[in-house]
Amino acid sequence: TLLIIDFGSQVTQLIARRLRELNVFSQIMPYQAVTMAEIERIAPKAIIFSGGPDSVTRDGSPRAPDGVFDYGVPILGICYGQQVMMTQLGGRVVSGEGTSEFGRAWVTPAAELDLLEGWFSDGPEQVWMSHGDHVAELAPGFSVYGTSPGAPFAITADAARHFYAVQFHPEVHHTPRGARLYENFVRLAGFKGDWTMASYRDEAIANIRETVGDAKVICGLSGGVDSSVAAVLIHEAIGDQLTCVFVDHGLLRLNEAEEVTRMFGDHYNIPLIHADESELFLGALEGVSDPEEKRKTIGRLFIDVFQKHADTIEGAQFLAQGTLYPDVIESVSFSGGPSVTIKSHHNVGGLPEKMGLKLVEPLRALFKDEVRALGHELGLPDSFIGRHPFPGPGLAIRCPGEITREKLEILRKADAVYIDQIRKHGLYDEIWQAFVAILPVRTVGVMGDGRTYDFACALRAVTSVDGMTADYYQFSHDFLGETATRIINEVRGINRVTYDITSKPPGTIEWE
Ligand code: XMP
Repeated sequence: TLLIIDFGSQVTQLIARRLRELNVFSQIMPYQAVTMAEIERIAPKAIIFSGGPDSVTRDGSPRAPDGVFDYGVPILGICYGQQVMMTQLGGRVVSGEGTSEFGRAWVTPAAELDLLEGWFSDGPEQVWMSHGDHVAELAPGFSVYGTSPGAPFAITADAARHFYAVQFHPEVHHTPRGARLYENFVRLAGFKGDWTMASYRDEAIANIRETVGDAKVICGLSGGVDSSVAAVLIHEAIGDQLTCVFVDHGLLRLNEAEEVTRMFGDHYNIPLIHADESELFLGALEGVSDPEEKRKTIGRLFIDVFQKHADTIEGAQFLAQGTLYPDVIESVSFSGGPSVTIKSHHNVGGLPEKMGLKLVEPLRALFKDEVRALGHELGLPDSFIGRHPFPGPGLAIRCPGEITREKLEILRKADAVYIDQIRKHGLYDEIWQAFVAILPVRTVGVMGDGRTYDFACALRAVTSVDGMTADYYQFSHDFLGETATRIINEVRGINRVTYDITSKPPGTIEWE
């Protein structure tokens, strides 16, 4: 294993991700927990010191155990990790004016180094810097291998001992070729790169067993990829100690509830409570047309309903959630930030405290594509793993204005035709999310010599990497024409089809 000592950087998990991409297993430990005894127990083949927010010039700031430098394995220090290394090995770090550097920078090579093999190709290499302090004097045994205008010691090493220390962050996207440094580092540390998602699954299962013991776990299943993968993984670990609660608010897509209950209840044999609460939700939404009021009503009822069903599971001590790493970063860096609420996202974050439950979040270290890979490893069908995201408030936010059963019925049918078209044309996997919104307007049409006065609908399809920004998908006109014809012919109640070509921003993906 490779040990990552975490000094509190926002992007420590990205280091682990880069290593997973190289099929190397790593373990992240907060610096407070790292003692020499722990290191000997873990017996890492290499160690990475992460970045961190503190300043080594401050008394009592985080350090690595001194013995780590005599342990005899390669060490890579990143940013704060570099400064820790320099300070502990006898160099000097300064803080204050003129020592900070944030954002894009270019590093120029100064000498050859095994860590840098194949990295510098033609001239300076773009890197990402984010530091307040910098190294002013190297520790004995270290030399400079790369410099940037703001960091004369951008890349330093004691090559004989395989200690490497860089000022920038090779793990982030804005250091485009940073992965090469990790590749070189793990290779020179002797890793074979034979670790796989199958190993991740085994480790996750062992962890869940250890955390949960023989207690019971409740999992809110939404039918989305994250909660589904979490449920199947936890079920593999602890079997019927897990019960899933699937809240059907009556705002699901066509056949969604049947698909979820068939898949998890019948196929996986996971104890599943199918809470059909559509009367409750649709009743409460009657006459409500304000988007925020809709969202809040649904969010509030969802928590009540979930709690009501969870209370029937005796001895439940844990709540399982499909939290992913990006959710963790966002909640850390943006909580209490200056951003305004665009939409009240459906969120059950307050549930565990309210119910006195502890959390199990087996996907907390993973990114979306890794969750899909894990789902694949667990044998979930590809068609399920590749599903587009579906929002918690469901069709309510795709039905601007007042929600009626009639409109929901029409919307479900039109949506099913649209998705069928997308699948038939092999476009599903190219699109981040596609759906129909039913508009609160009726328009006049003529069908078979008769007059119609029916609803208009809008098709939406976007490309995106994270849902934060998005562009509309460029269907061919033939596709759009064929789809419009099918919807009008096959769905009674719709006589006009439009295509939404708004990007995000300024639009949002959903209509409300
Ligand atoms: P917007 O409409 O904000 O959507 O551009 C961005 C992504 O988030 C999904 N979305 C939600 N997901 N609960 C969710 O779980 C919600 O309340 C919610 N609102 C929007 C949306 O489908 C898109 O993928």
